[in-house]
Amino acid sequence: MYKIAVIGGDGVGPEVVAEGLKVMAKVADQYNFKYEATELPWCTQYYLDTGVLMGQEAVEEAKEYDAIYLGAIGDPRVETGLVERAIIMGYRFGLDLYINLRPIKLYAEHLCPLKGKEPKDIDILVIRENTECVYAGIGGILKKGTPDEVAVGEMIYTRKGVERAVRYAFEAARKRNKAKKVTLVDKSNAIRIQDIWTRTFAEVAAEYPDIETDHAYIDAACMWMIKNPEWFDVIVTPNLFGDIITDLGAMVQGGMGVAASGNIHPGKTSMFEPIHGSAPKYAGKNVANPIAAINAAAMMLDFLGEKQAANAIETAVANLLSSKRIPSLGADSGLSTSQIGDMVLEELG
Ligand code: IPM
Ligand code: MN
Repeated sequence: MYKIAVIGGDGVGPEVVAEGLKVMAKVADQYNFKYEATELPWCTQYYLDTGVLMGQEAVEEAKEYDAIYLGAIGDPRVETGLVERAIIMGYRFGLDLYINLRPIKLYAEHLCPLKGKEPKDIDILVIRENTECVYAGIGGILKKGTPDEVAVGEMIYTRKGVERAVRYAFEAARKRNKAKKVTLVDKSNAIRIQDIWTRTFAEVAAEYPDIETDHAYIDAACMWMIKNPEWFDVIVTPNLFGDIITDLGAMVQGGMGVAASGNIHPGKTSMFEPIHGSAPKYAGKNVANPIAAINAAAMMLDFLGEKQAANAIETAVANLLSSKRIPSLGADSGLSTSQIGDMVLEELG
């Protein structure tokens, strides 16, 4: 019996999560596992109603769940990033979810904006370090609003934090058994402290003689991702670059409507979410594509050990996309959020 915390969150979050839960219920039946889903109230509306932002107690409470299934957070009615930092980064940092696993996989040629690229060309696994870098939030603003204003933010890397991300990447490359290559993406030419990534990568790589290594600066990696995405297998990269390159990756695989992610601490409570945001303009309209949230549910099941159920969901999604029964991934696909969820159920049989 898996214990799952569900946070619909803001905007289209609750709608897409509802479809993911429909799909989970179906595969639980088909593959004989049980789970208990508990809804948690965290979102901007809750903050506006009660004045309560998610805090440390909530992080502690989350530890009693095996996984957290999250929709989206973000609402223009409150200070930029306030609730995102409290909930998304609250869990990432509070639960030490040091891996942000972001697959970039093209399911159907027609979804790709790049000329001549096929599904065989785009199958990348990005390992985004998830607890350090400029996201650590060390710093501040002095003399705010005056001509003497100073803003300082620290870019922090620890040997432990870098090494566990790099090691995870090499293990992932081995398990995937594809090109067996890990590319380190950094900016160590300009940002010399990222030398800690260069050295740690080289040391860990020595333990994996079966895995090829490669390196690209983040600016060049963005270029290669468009020009030759087939060159990448597994990418490992610091938090900020991982954030940016996976939005680019989402476009290469057809759009934010398909990209899912796992915030993982192996063996501990981990969190799964679509990469897309709350898309407030589509909220409540039943038009957001729930595929990314459904894929996030599949990633969660894979993490929990339900590999067959996870694969079944991925296959159903891939079939619906490649046959063009789901013709596109935007809110303009002509299919409603709940219709797409129903189609996945039907495809599961
Ligand atoms: C993501 C998001 C978050 C991030 C925001 C909402 C804080 O963009 O999950 O990629 O920057 O990590
Ligand atoms: Mn992002």
